[in-house]
Amino acid sequence: MDGLKEKVRIVPDFPKKGISFKDITTLLKDKEAYHYVIKELAAGLNDIDLVVGPEARGFVIGAPLAYELYAGFVLVRKPGKLPAATIKYEYELEYGTDALEIHRDAIIPGQRVVVADDLLATGGTAYSVVKLVQSLGAEVVAIRFVMELTDLAGRERLSEFKDCDIKSLIQFDY
Ligand code: PRP
Ligand code: MG
Repeated sequence: MDGLKEKVRIVPDFPKKGISFKDITTLLKDKEAYHYVIKELAAGLNDIDLVVGPEARGFVIGAPLAYELYAGFVLVRKPGKLPAATIKYEYELEYGTDALEIHRDAIIPGQRVVVADDLLATGGTAYSVVKLVQSLGAEVVAIRFVMELTDLAGRERLSEFKDCDIKSLIQFDY
């Protein structure tokens, strides 16, 4: 689609000075761009049981992708938000740690799963989601992002997932 990248609004110095924020809200409110993005992310994916997406922006991409693929959708959330029994994955941040959770009964071992999010930056979020899904015995066949910040080497972070097809639609080099 011509001009897709330009649908993303660049906000300088957000959330802090020196960061060039890639704002997907301007793409999402464009019905043609949103529809196109979901169709493109779904291309080539067959026999998918579940799409798994992390809050919050991962829901906005993952849920319509699941619908498009006729798959179920599983929510990965920040700690304390999911009501039933969960497992947690903790990951390092620049200062301290963060964590994500998934329901223990969200996935049946052997199910074919796609992980989806709006953005691949350092890869820490997607890495955590894949680890949660794998620990429940599922097969992560693909990871799909709308945007990728290539200089943050997220793909290297995800390189241990060798059988996983990783794709982003829009790349930014800074
Ligand atoms: C953003 C984005 C991705 C993640 C990418 O989410 O939506 O999930 O960062 O960064 P990473 O590859 O370095 O992990 P954020 O945690 O800001 O929260 P949100 O989706 O709730 O807005
Ligand atoms: Mg996010």
